[in-house]
Amino acid sequence: MEKRNELYAGKAKSVYTTDDEDRLILLFRNDTSAFDGQKIEQLDRKGMVNNKFNAFIMEKLEAAGIPTHFDRILSDQESLVKKLDMIPVECVVRNIAAGSICRRLGVPESMDLNPPTFEFFLKNDELHDPMINEYHIRTFGWAEDVYIERMKELTFQVNDILKELFMSGGMLLVDYKLEFGVYKGELVLGDEFTPDGCRLWDKDTREKLDKDRFRQGMGNVVESYEIVGHRLGMNFD
Ligand code: ADP
Ligand code: TMP
Ligand code: ASP
Repeated sequence: MEKRNELYAGKAKSVYTTDDEDRLILLFRNDTSAFDGQKIEQLDRKGMVNNKFNAFIMEKLEAAGIPTHFDRILSDQESLVKKLDMIPVECVVRNIAAGSICRRLGVPESMDLNPPTFEFFLKNDELHDPMINEYHIRTFGWAEDVYIERMKELTFQVNDILKELFMSGGMLLVDYKLEFGVYKGELVLGDEFTPDGCRLWDKDTREKLDKDRFRQGMGNVVESYEIVGHRLGMNFD
């Protein structure tokens, strides 16, 4: 597989074309960003840890029947993926209240959400990723109806699979964000699933083990990601 040109440099990953027009290389950098890019720092080992974490989760999801873009790991910080036509919305499911839902709705952090909530956000840093609904997606043509339905269906299926997986390592999947794209007409899970884009708490102490440690300046960010990975049987060597 030959790496060609940089297509896009995001806040945490860079995307490269390859000699295969259907494949891209994702480079997981050490850059760590929060508050829509307002806080950015380099954290040692984070690119490698997130690349391997993402590969592990994507393989679990694929094995459980979720179509994903993941093909294979190429190096410590690079993975090969299918090139998707990305839908510019983020799908968020919450099992426990934390983050923006507490600020928006005044609900206390740590409240169990039963049934879990589903929210769409527009992927747009300048507008601070505003919350949107299905009507906005249809009106502005961000995705076709069939894909809107499928995004909800797959995001909830991922919840069932990953809640159980994290619970097996003694952790609560509080919430998470997924991004989808279209590959040859099929809706496929893209981007990443790492502690950068979800909240994970120890099930007994409710200690935060995800990117909230970075957002809130708690320290031991990458160390916590590795603890999560080790609890699920990942190997970062
Ligand atoms: P951001 O764009 O939010 O700063 P990243 O730094 O993670 O995010 O950049 C990765 C970019 O690559 C994102 O814009 C994401 O939507 C896009 N992307 C992820 N997976 C794929 C894929 N399989 N095909 C095309 N684009 C992808
Ligand atoms: P929020 O509480 O800030 O709305 O975020 C909910 C979850 O989704 C949290 O785990 C972080 C993740 N998320 C991202 O990773 N990127 C985003 O742009 C958004 C809106 C949420
Ligand atoms: N949207 C992500 C977050 O809030 C990344 C970023 O804001 O830069 O963590």
